[in-house]
Amino acid sequence: MGIDVWVPRNAPEPVEPVAQTNAQVSSDGMDWPELRDCVANCTRCELSESRTNTVFGVGNPEADWLIIGEAPGAEEDRRGEPFVGRAGQLLDQMLIAIGQSRESVFIANILKCRPPNNRDPKPAEAAACRAYLERQIELIQPKIVLAVGKIAAQNLLGTDDPVGRMRGRPHDLGGIPLVVTYHPAYLLRSPSQKNKSWSDLCLAARLVVGGDA
Ligand code: URA
Repeated sequence: MGIDVWVPRNAPEPVEPVAQTNAQVSSDGMDWPELRDCVANCTRCELSESRTNTVFGVGNPEADWLIIGEAPGAEEDRRGEPFVGRAGQLLDQMLIAIGQSRESVFIANILKCRPPNNRDPKPAEAAACRAYLERQIELIQPKIVLAVGKIAAQNLLGTDDPVGRMRGRPHDLGGIPLVVTYHPAYLLRSPSQKNKSWSDLCLAARLVVGGDA
């Protein structure tokens, strides 16, 4: 355009953009095998250094029900599968009670890697992992999301509310109804709360069939 661009004599040579680091890679548009591979090789946060296995999620890739928990525990980290410990056995029973199973639903977590000593996920870890879960939701297109426990619900809904205030009513997750209920590990410690979880499951089941509570 006839405009001179003045560059200081000692300016550094322009650098070609380097290949994207893993932290910048988007999961947009990935299919299941690509997403699975990306998660298996993920180094987006420091949990990749201590994990044994990533825990991608299991179940039906076209499920109506998407169950979302917190993060893998020791047994899940060892086996690479979510909810395989005692809490998982209770979750299985809860699923059977609503006519579902591990094979008919899809089960995932906020985090794909185990936080050391089962501590709560750090916000940065949840943020680093979020795109994977979002792509799973896009691919599955569930009719209902069931958030089990405080960590899952708070992360998905972007709130600090306790489960007691979030449960018992439908929420909206980008157009998908979301129901919050207690984490099965909590129900193992507080069995008197199981009736509330049962009513949350019934609410979720009504939303699946009727689209309305
Ligand atoms: N608790 C969770 O929230 N997720 C698991 O996968 C196991 C236990």
